[in-house]
Amino acid sequence: MNVLITGANRGLGLGFVRYYLQAGYDVWACHRGSQGALAAMDLPCLHLLAWDVGADAAPLGALPETLDLLINCAGIYGPGKDGQALDKVTPEAMLQVFNVDCIGPLRVVQHLQSRMSSGAVIANLSSKMGSSADNSSGGTYAYRAAKAALVIVSKSMAVDLAAAGVHVISLHPGWVRTDMTQHSGLIDVETSVAGMAKVIARAGSYVPGAFVAFDGSEVPY
Ligand SMILES: NC(=O)c1ccc[n+]([C@@H]2O[C@H](COP(=O)([O-])OP(=O)(O)OC[C@H]3O[C@@H](n4cnc5c(N)ncnc54)[C@H](OP(=O)(O)O)[C@@H]3O)[C@@H](O)[C@H]2O)c1
Repeated sequence: MNVLITGANRGLGLGFVRYYLQAGYDVWACHRGSQGALAAMDLPCLHLLAWDVGADAAPLGALPETLDLLINCAGIYGPGKDGQALDKVTPEAMLQVFNVDCIGPLRVVQHLQSRMSSGAVIANLSSKMGSSADNSSGGTYAYRAAKAALVIVSKSMAVDLAAAGVHVISLHPGWVRTDMTQHSGLIDVETSVAGMAKVIARAGSYVPGAFVAFDGSEVPY
């Protein structure tokens, strides 16, 4: 089984790399710049690719012929909370976060679509922050909007790729202790990844384009 993971040099992406190597997959781990912890993982089943999902350039490195799982994990938060307040957020910040968090996964799927096997899964890492139903605190304009748009993009992908037997879902990883949260989350990377991997394993049992949290519950959006 082949899996490709973006944003794999740290945080949840690195957690997915470790999880799927342990599960016996061949793993294509993508990094934007620094290889981080990947550099020290010299394993025959691990293939490194340089891929900045915020740019149109093709990835550097050999891609697998076929893919059984694609995890779009790369993402940015954008300016810290105050920088995304109504009176502070800039058009530049809105566009920068949208480019990486929403257009990034779209670029990756456009590039890899022809390699997805029948029965393959595409998992796009969104966030509950992108759920309108869950938004009671406002603010965080750039991140919320980009993650909401990613759920909508994932839904269209799910409909469009159903005929090819490809299942597409959006995931909410929980509030996880990574660099993005300044390690202030409620759960660790291993718990989040193990939960999301369970959801991914039964992606076909959800409505196409469903938005699912790491604990298997569906997120209303
Ligand atoms: N942690 C949470 O509680 C939480 C909650 C909800 C959703 N999420 C989502 O889960 C995903 C992973 O988050 P995380 O907590 O692991 O974040 P993280 O620790 O900040 O890691 C982000 C990863 O994305 C990569 N990345 C950023 N911009 C990129 C680009 N243009 N091209 C390719 N890679 C890029 C980073 O690479 P560099 O090292 O090169 O920057 C890094 O590998 C994100 O999509 C995030 O929005 C996280």
